[in-house]
Amino acid sequence: MREEIVLISPEEIEHQKEFALKIQGMADRPQTFHIVTYGCQMNAHDSEKLSGMLLSMGLSPAASREEADVVLFNTCCIRDNAQRKALGNILWLKEVKKKRPDMLVGVCGCMMQQKGMADKILKQYPFVDFAFGTGNIHQLPEILLNTLETGRDIRVGLTDSTLVEGLPTQRESRTKAYITVMQGCNNYCSYCIVPYVRGRERSRDEKDILRDAEALLQDGVQEIMLLGQNVNSYGTDLGGTSFPSLLRKLDEMGVPRLRFMTSHPKDLSDELIEEIARSRALCPHLHLPVQSGSDRVLREMNRRYTAQQYLQKVDKLRKAKPDIGLTTDIIVAFPGETREEFQDTLDLVRKVRYDSAFTFVFSPRAGTRADTLPGRVPPQEASQRIEELIALQESITKEMLTSLVGQTHQVLVEGKARRSQGQLTGKSGRNISVNFAGGEHLIDTIVPVTITDIGANTLRGQIQETTIEGEKQ
Ligand code: 5AD
Ligand code: SF4
Repeated sequence: MREEIVLISPEEIEHQKEFALKIQGMADRPQTFHIVTYGCQMNAHDSEKLSGMLLSMGLSPAASREEADVVLFNTCCIRDNAQRKALGNILWLKEVKKKRPDMLVGVCGCMMQQKGMADKILKQYPFVDFAFGTGNIHQLPEILLNTLETGRDIRVGLTDSTLVEGLPTQRESRTKAYITVMQGCNNYCSYCIVPYVRGRERSRDEKDILRDAEALLQDGVQEIMLLGQNVNSYGTDLGGTSFPSLLRKLDEMGVPRLRFMTSHPKDLSDELIEEIARSRALCPHLHLPVQSGSDRVLREMNRRYTAQQYLQKVDKLRKAKPDIGLTTDIIVAFPGETREEFQDTLDLVRKVRYDSAFTFVFSPRAGTRADTLPGRVPPQEASQRIEELIALQESITKEMLTSLVGQTHQVLVEGKARRSQGQLTGKSGRNISVNFAGGEHLIDTIVPVTITDIGANTLRGQIQETTIEGEKQ
């Protein structure tokens, strides 16, 4: 299995560095860049790598999108509205470019990886100067150089089963960092386009991951988020390692805070639950997408668990780690979903009592099995269902937040609160925003905060001057 994966060689990365230096040396090269990112954390992390490469070519961040010499759209195509938003914004730049013809417009990310998209960009978006797929990210220096020299470079050439090491990365945050542990997905949930645009599952070597973590710790990073479409199956393509074992090694290394995303319920093993309960570094939060509470719909979705099995895993998790907060993804109006089946989803939400939920109306994606299924739910009915679900979740969230009042939580301070003067904001281990009064010197540190009140989806609190025993992460 490992042989099918294209490992980008260190020589190729060195080669790309030469292209970057060549651009750096050009007298009339672009000076500034702006990256517009859509979609998930994986894309956000890819954008950090794209930024790192653009910096290595001598470009610097522009003050705004309109003023940038290079504008790069890192796109998403998971739902139709994500794709339309990206295409709309790309089109809007056509007008800006009329006034600034030297501006270079690039498009990359999942949307580019869709069948026929490179052709569409080539023919229908003549103002797009360069474009590439998720497997070509490391070639940005070569692509940009070629664009500067020849006027245009549109490619989605490489297999999407690539693994790249050693790209320069410009982190968005000083204290939080991403590490990709695996890419791709083999699950083929019937509604999902990810396996088609991100390719098969492939895990990074453990030593590469641990080396990245070590470097981040040296750099003062407080929180590491491990990324993968299905992190729980990390290592199954490598042999000799597993996700729980990787988590344990990172914990032993002294990472202050550790999170991971996303977990597939079918792969949430007892061993992983034990590790979640045992680990000092792992935050008490798990994102566990359920998608539906109806067994028939789950079967049609190819999720490979029943509502009962899901609930049993939640039970085990809560027994092992009582203070854990759960979040989820839910799709309503999957083809053929009846009112009763939707009620099953509401029932499951009432049982699990998530901290919060990302809710979506089913969006048909070309090439997926669900796109061919009969029984499309009318848009009006779909909107009604999602509103009902959101209202239910909001009431649960409010009750959950209220139940935390009086507790003390460890908060990683991210910055000044946007709306309230003199207030700081940060995230609790359970991944809830907490606002409290405090000096700016606390930014980027982890402090204990006692919760005094709730806001809309946030908590308000008071910082503890001394650490209290038994406090929650
Ligand atoms: N329609 C609606 N929601 C979708 N998701 C993935 N594909 C679709 C689709 N075609 C949702 C799932 C997934 C999240 C990232 O996006 O809930 O967990
Ligand atoms: Fe898509 Fe399912 Fe893979 Fe998640 S597990 S990326 S929903 S196919």
